[in-house]
Amino acid sequence: YDPSFVRLVDVSPRDGLQNERTPIPTPTKITLINKLTALNIPVIESTSFVSPKWVPQLSDAAAVMQGISKKEGTSYPVLTPNLKGLERALELGVEEVAVFPAVTEGFSKRNLNAGVEETLGRFGDVIAKALENGVRVRGYVSVVLGCPYEGDVSPSSVARVAERLFKMGCYEISLGDTIGTGTPNKMRELLKAVCQVVPVENLAVHCHDTYGQALGNIYEAINFGVRVVDSSVAGLGGCPYAKGATGNVATEDVLYLVHGMGLRTGVDLNEAVKVGNWISGELGRKNASRVANALTAKL
Ligand code: HMG
Ligand code: MG
Repeated sequence: YDPSFVRLVDVSPRDGLQNERTPIPTPTKITLINKLTALNIPVIESTSFVSPKWVPQLSDAAAVMQGISKKEGTSYPVLTPNLKGLERALELGVEEVAVFPAVTEGFSKRNLNAGVEETLGRFGDVIAKALENGVRVRGYVSVVLGCPYEGDVSPSSVARVAERLFKMGCYEISLGDTIGTGTPNKMRELLKAVCQVVPVENLAVHCHDTYGQALGNIYEAINFGVRVVDSSVAGLGGCPYAKGATGNVATEDVLYLVHGMGLRTGVDLNEAVKVGNWISGELGRKNASRVANALTAKL
């Protein structure tokens, strides 16, 4: 834990692309991951080994993992919802996986087709088997600042799920504001509760920008001591089981904020803008990052 360094986890190849309706060619996904690697982003969440019936866009997960050029020191985690997903990932030599329970029953059932307790049991098996195989496990908690089906979520209920994941062996807990309804004050209350049970060094924040609050929430989290931030280049993304949820906070915007706070990321903002503009072009849309658009206009 170096207080002057913020570790970025770019989730665009997974969270950013999972919700796209038209199939994205596998080579485009591979190129995106290779470009993020070249940016020196330390963690690139690359795809999901979930049921192809649930997330058809990521049904090429194996081909993606076989096609990318991995760099020493860069981590390429993948989502694994169950042992079947973990086994598929292990066959491909994946070194890090992520599990992703929710806090609320409503979201858990829509996203994972089972209640919170049942999924925690399943994820416990996934974590145990991953660790046995020398694979690191990141743990998400979803809907930490609001649920599309149940509304407000209490910080203590988030802390309970986060603590379970941490005790089961996740090295890091990423707090997911899945639908972006959080505000900085709520983020602070949440972190106060969660850091009673998981050290702040082991926390990450995963903010979707649906309500335009992501940067404010991240600023609050960094001031609280969090040094791992999830983001998505060009602000790509959205969860298929959270209606209306837009993308993750844009990596370019986070870089501008973090560098503006005098902290390091090891990533060059102008180079990140190029990658964001490139993938936006591939998808036929405008870059959702305000910073990227401002810098592009200056070029
Ligand atoms: P289920 O339908 O109850 O599962 O779904 P099942 O075990 O009955 O299996 C159904 C079919 O899927 C079977 O195939 C299985 O073999 C197959 P069939 O026999 O019918 O041909 N299957 C699989 N195939 C490949 N890989 C697998 C796998 N598992 C089953 N791993 C299940 C339960 C958990 C599988 C399903 O609900 C699922 O895959 N959910 C994942 C949904 C998802 O990926 N959501 C988006 C990610 S979460 C997110 O975005 C939030 C996050 O960003 C944080 C935040 O923002 O807060 C992380
Ligand atoms: Mg997400």
